[in-house]
Amino acid sequence: MKSFDLLKLAEEAKGNAYVPYSKFKVGAALLTKGGKVYTGCNIENASYGASNCAERTAIFKAVSEGETEFEKIAVASSSREETWPCGICRQVMVEFSKELTVVLGDTEKNEVHEYSIEELLSHSFSGLDIKGEKI
Ligand code: THU
Repeated sequence: MKSFDLLKLAEEAKGNAYVPYSKFKVGAALLTKGGKVYTGCNIENASYGASNCAERTAIFKAVSEGETEFEKIAVASSSREETWPCGICRQVMVEFSKELTVVLGDTEKNEVHEYSIEELLSHSFSGLDIKGEKI
């Protein structure tokens, strides 16, 4: 699937965002290596720390369905600027895909930008560090 089309799905997914506190809607669309798409939105909570970002909603939906290999994730928000994934979401992305492409932009402006998770979270901590742990 083209990044433009994945971004369009992320833009649609933000329509379901549950954001009574920030009013900041975010949508994500995750493409698996097998070609399936899982979408997600941010889901806030009166206990703010219990909120979940759109990217993690999409990733957790996919993992809970048995998917762990991902190709790209598109992110869209109600901001006029691109919304960079937060640090926690970047860490969750890298857990599953060291070569994930992150797609940001705005399909109405015909703007699609691609970044690698490596550039968004370089020198990341991973399971390899735990295995190589010296006690
Ligand atoms: N948010 C996301 O869903 N993804 C991001 O990458 C950045 C932040 C959400 C969390 C919260 O519901 C709202 O945006 C404001 O921080």
